[in-house]
Amino acid sequence: MGFLVIDQLTMTYGQVTALDDVSLTVKEGEFITLLGPSGSGKTTLLMSIAGFNRPTAGEIVFDGRQITGLEPEDRDFGLVFQGYALFPHLSVADNVAFPLRVRKWDKARIRARVAEMLDLVGLAHLAGRKPRQLSGGQQQRVALARALAFGPRVLLLDEPLSALDRMLRETMQQELRRLHRETGVTFLYVTHDQQEALTLSDRIAVFNKGRIVECDTAQRLFRAPKTRFVAEFLGENNFVTGTRQGGRWTGLGTGFVLPPDRDLPEDRSAATLWLRPGDIALGPAGAGEIGFQAVVEDVIFAGTSSGLHLRLPTGEPLVASVAAEISAAEITGKTLAFHARPGAVGVIPEGA
Ligand SMILES: Nc1ncnc2c1ncn2[C@@H]1O[C@H](COP(=O)(O)OP(=O)(O)OP(=O)(O)O)[C@@H](O)[C@H]1O
Ligand SMILES: [Mg+2]
Repeated sequence: MGFLVIDQLTMTYGQVTALDDVSLTVKEGEFITLLGPSGSGKTTLLMSIAGFNRPTAGEIVFDGRQITGLEPEDRDFGLVFQGYALFPHLSVADNVAFPLRVRKWDKARIRARVAEMLDLVGLAHLAGRKPRQLSGGQQQRVALARALAFGPRVLLLDEPLSALDRMLRETMQQELRRLHRETGVTFLYVTHDQQEALTLSDRIAVFNKGRIVECDTAQRLFRAPKTRFVAEFLGENNFVTGTRQGGRWTGLGTGFVLPPDRDLPEDRSAATLWLRPGDIALGPAGAGEIGFQAVVEDVIFAGTSSGLHLRLPTGEPLVASVAAEISAAEITGKTLAFHARPGAVGVIPEGA
């Protein structure tokens, strides 16, 4: 039995199916991220868990108890939503104290808990300020302290960092990881930012069109996606067609052998192969590597690396990410040799 079990949840709004038979088992203490494109049902699931939505079908079981029909306040989950603003007229300390006053904690206990929470998020020195006197990152820290103050066992977060700039977002990501580690609370985190999901999560549930496409650790989803959707959504990727005959593959305009440690389609069948831009290197292949030729059509400078936009002999496009020192003028329009490790090539069976 899982700690938080979402069992065959469906939620429709008129003609729209926002959640389509979603099942997910969350372990106690886990940091699990719901990742997916806009409109894929992430917020709908989080709102259903929080109790603001009534699912059309299915159940939610928390710690062995049916909670599907309970009011939000009877579920006692912590909430940090993007639009869940602080109370502007209350000080930082009073914002954090608010959920404790609602729960009728006594004064001394509230004072001690508020101090503890402000220490936890590093804002003890700003306890007397009003929210408008804080930066965006500081406000988000107050929201986290407020959501964690009453000691919820689950914290639900819906894109809490999306309004912050990139640098601050990265700092806050580290902060969230630390808060998760130090409190031991189970985090359910919604984002459409795949980098954020990879950085933060123990496991990621990838959403598309109201369904969970795959749910696994970030590493397994990144290195061994089972579906084209996940291979495409998580990190940059290239897709080319491959065919297999007698244990040998044809693809990328050449022939090669792939490691036997994966589900391969039957002989002669076509499959989609994937190869990440960072796993393609310039220059001829060494022993055991896959070598192929491609025309460099464009070079896009991207800071520490450059993206080479290539055209294979098969006519298929391919992007390679290489060190930025490369001179665009010298290689654009040329046919060059490239190579990759066989272990870097993934296979998606037809139809997946
Ligand atoms: N109250 C509502 N009434 C009607 N349709 C809704 C309602 N709330 C959500 N939807 C629809 O349900 C689907 C899922 O929406 P949801 O908000 O869960 O997506 P999301 O994955 O959180 O997207 P985003 O990344 O943009 O926040 C969408 O098609 C949306 O238009
Ligand atoms: Mg949303």
